[in-house]
Amino acid sequence: MRSSRKDDHVRFAVEQHRSGPAANDFDAVALVHHALAATDCAEVELATEVLGRRWETPFFINGMTGGSEHTGTINRNLAIAARETGLPIGSGSMSAYFADEALADTFRVLRKEHPRGFVMANVNATATPDQVHRAIDLLEADALQIHLNALQEIVMPEGDREFRAWRDQVPRIAAAAGIPVIVKEVGFGLSRETVALLRDSGVAAADVGGRGGTNFARIENNRRTAADFGFIEDWGQSTVACLLDAAGLSGIEVLGSGGIRSPLDVAKALALGAGAVGVAGRFLHTLVDQGTDALITMITEWRTQLQQIMTVLGALKPADLTGCDLLITGAPAEFAELRGVD
Ligand code: FNR
Repeated sequence: MRSSRKDDHVRFAVEQHRSGPAANDFDAVALVHHALAATDCAEVELATEVLGRRWETPFFINGMTGGSEHTGTINRNLAIAARETGLPIGSGSMSAYFADEALADTFRVLRKEHPRGFVMANVNATATPDQVHRAIDLLEADALQIHLNALQEIVMPEGDREFRAWRDQVPRIAAAAGIPVIVKEVGFGLSRETVALLRDSGVAAADVGGRGGTNFARIENNRRTAADFGFIEDWGQSTVACLLDAAGLSGIEVLGSGGIRSPLDVAKALALGAGAVGVAGRFLHTLVDQGTDALITMITEWRTQLQQIMTVLGALKPADLTGCDLLITGAPAEFAELRGVD
């Protein structure tokens, strides 16, 4: 059941991305052009610091998969692409490994193929300290992602129905992990209040994982034979809205993901205050439909184009993008106004 679920997720997610990049709130963000602001391409550095470590690029492959033979192959190819392009990479939820040790290799392959890379393990908020350590050890992980996915579970007929313990579990996991913990959503977003709670729970980074890209409400609705839940597919806050919402918070690193379609979206997310930017469905789609070499080419082009966008904006390093002039219109502007964000 579990391994077919992992395969279903990949299949339905790839289908969502097949019709090309869909409109989302990043379209409502414009970077103001200043014709004399540009610098020299050679001066612009993509490297940045995340969780106290140097990352060669300010974007990463977000946690997706593992737990079946097919997804083990996908993990191997994602890790090869990450290694060849210098990207950090996350694993999908490692619950399948806790339930069946025989699935270890479908996750361990990330470290095997990316021996010197920044690799993130991934657990849900109910993981025990023992499971957390097993996950970290298996991947020799540099950071641990905890995913919060209550809405996805609710739409999943076989999903969890008990979430009350999560609030107490997150600080316990953060205290037990021994490496930096990133808490992430899976496409419904983290509110400012949630990010503040995470900060107070000892979490090092919050990845807002907002709406606008892979839609897990739709994926789980596609898998359902139980009553249709399609009306819930617009649930949650977009990544742009979440980054605006969290902008005033200090004491926690904020990462941006959900609906990143291009290097321009990466630049916009960085300009909105993300310390780094996660990409999942868009890269998965390229890998599954076109292969590993095509993904390596795509990521290499993204790196070059991001550097070129930064050049035009006069940003010498990713953190300089937060000083860019932005115009925000439409839904995210309304959201920010209603939430009292400057
Ligand atoms: C995911 N995502 C995910 N996240 C997580 O923390 N644990 C997981 O096991 C999974 N599984 C998973 C499978 C597949 C096939 C996809 C495409 C994604 C969620 C992912 O990390 C990300 O938050 C969302 O996909 C939104 O980002 P994109 O896809 O819009 O870039």
